Amino acid sequence: PTPHIAVLGSANMDLVAYVAKAPRRGETVTGREFRTVPGGKGANQAVAAARAGATVSMIGAIGADTFGAQLRSSLEHSGVDTDLLRSVETPTGTAHIVVDDEGGNAIVVVPGANGTVKGLTPGDEALIASADTLLLQLEIPLKGVLTAARAARRHGVRTVLTPAPAQPLPDELLAATDLLLPNEHEAAALTGIADDPRAAARSLLAQVPEVVITLGAEGSLYAARGAEPVTVPAPRVTAVDTTGAGDTFAGALAVALAEGRPVPDALHWASSAAALSVQRPGASASMPCRKEIDAQANGTPS
Ligand code: RIB
Ligand code: NA
Repeated sequence: PTPHIAVLGSANMDLVAYVAKAPRRGETVTGREFRTVPGGKGANQAVAAARAGATVSMIGAIGADTFGAQLRSSLEHSGVDTDLLRSVETPTGTAHIVVDDEGGNAIVVVPGANGTVKGLTPGDEALIASADTLLLQLEIPLKGVLTAARAARRHGVRTVLTPAPAQPLPDELLAATDLLLPNEHEAAALTGIADDPRAAARSLLAQVPEVVITLGAEGSLYAARGAEPVTVPAPRVTAVDTTGAGDTFAGALAVALAEGRPVPDALHWASSAAALSVQRPGASASMPCRKEIDAQANGTPS
């Protein structure tokens, strides 16, 4: 059956300048191109999961403004249900992004409407209760994330937390998390262990039962209590814009795991989705559909 995935999190309009090299403090550089594209870690994960084949509902907030309307229609266009995406008086969140010639980025996020997501309505909770998996990230207030994680736990719904942007996490949040999905930097920030993902994963297993650390172009590492860690390499590709690659991975991984696929297959499939996304500009806009992911994963990319 098609997995049902709920996402609680941010929706941002990404204001992206493409430039050879990002400016240093006090420096002005001339960019090549500017794009206004849908983003935000919550909305990105929702789009990734929907395109990967799940039934997806997004809980969050946008402003009653042009960016908000554009984000809602972009989500709906990818098949994401937005009935629980509230329009509020605060302006839609924005992300001010500089992407360099290596596809790397630097980002300032102004939360705006995302900052109003501090709890759940009864409708939000009912939706979470009906889902197989709840995807969480940290671009809304921690109070909202924690409330949702607790609700998911009460209803026996699996929670996948992407701890980004990196910040210290309350023990309670980790206690209500089933799968923690940091990148290397976030894993290092949470554990104080840098440059050793296996050791970082082992340390995180003291607080959560399962961990996947994304390793960028190197792929990903899975660790669970009482099992040998698994590392799965990523396809070799040339990146033009890595914005949202982690969210693409998260959405695709959640779908594959909810479908009951074995972990190594699920990691390979999620890495294939992320590899496709980094070859195209924009966060949500660059995310592949299920057919493309299958082709990339089987070594027959179109
Ligand atoms: O994870 C990528 C996202 O982070 C971007 O789309 C941007 O909105 C930032 O919040
Ligand atoms: Na991209």
